[in-house]
Amino acid sequence: MAGRLEGKVAIISGGATGMGGAASKLFAAEGAKVAIVDRNKAAADETAAAIVAAGGEAVAIAADVSDEAQVEAAVRATNERFGTVTTLFNHAGTIVIKPFLDTTLEEWEMLHAVNVRSMFLMTRAVLPQMIANGGGAIVCTSSISAVAATPMEVLYDTTKGACHMFARAIAVEFRDQNIRCNAVCPGFIRTPHGLREVAELQAAGVDVSDAAIAAQQGRIGEPEEVAKAALFLASDEASFVNGAHLFVDNGFTAM
Ligand SMILES: NC(=O)c1ccc[n+]([C@@H]2O[C@H](COP(=O)([O-])OP(=O)(O)OC[C@H]3O[C@@H](n4cnc5c(N)ncnc54)[C@H](O)[C@@H]3O)[C@@H](O)[C@H]2O)c1
Repeated sequence: MAGRLEGKVAIISGGATGMGGAASKLFAAEGAKVAIVDRNKAAADETAAAIVAAGGEAVAIAADVSDEAQVEAAVRATNERFGTVTTLFNHAGTIVIKPFLDTTLEEWEMLHAVNVRSMFLMTRAVLPQMIANGGGAIVCTSSISAVAATPMEVLYDTTKGACHMFARAIAVEFRDQNIRCNAVCPGFIRTPHGLREVAELQAAGVDVSDAAIAAQQGRIGEPEEVAKAALFLASDEASFVNGAHLFVDNGFTAM
């Protein structure tokens, strides 16, 4: 059976570890040629090597996706290696956990640059070739935090609110050029980011114990469970799904 991304060329920002790493492996297993664009070159190399060892095609490209020149160079490198980009997963992101009144302007600027400016830069760099190619699919990582606030996460929650709307606005503006853009919105997921978030929230006195997470979403989620949702949105199976927010949170935001 042909893979669900056969013939596609995918860029996955933050594709080295966590959910991005799981998506890099899954997208490649489904036939995509995958460019892992990540600032953690060692981990990106490792994920790309695992994909190649499993018979897939992948390249690791080191870049800070909040930097315009580095994003443009990463897209050029992908084109040189694999040709036109058909699929973009805007996943890279990070978090600041602090009482709001202790946060600094530098932290605000950094977090918005890594989580939001990165989507703007990457999408703007890739859209013209998708349009010239007759269409494309974009998936943006939002979060339950786009609609449900957690104490100590004002900066993070605002970035994810922006990612949430970015996906929708791109979908509306580019639908007629056969571009689909959707957001995947994970709950608490077992990744380096997710585990650091839980540890730092607990240290700051916010109850994110196993029992609290169980009450909100049954259990912690696994990176592969989010990668499968991103795959659906990225694939032609989601041909009429555009501007959607797909929560992968086992009911967290339904309550
Ligand atoms: N883990 C969770 O519980 C959770 C829940 C909801 C949303 N998210 C979102 O998932 C993303 C975090 O990914 P993860 O949880 O898979 O964990 P992760 O920390 O393993 O992955 C993040 C990846 O992004 C890369 N990255 C970070 N900043 C970058 C930059 N400026 N340039 C290039 N690469 C960069 C990291 O090197 C890493 O490989 C963020 O967008 C976050 O908002 C995570």
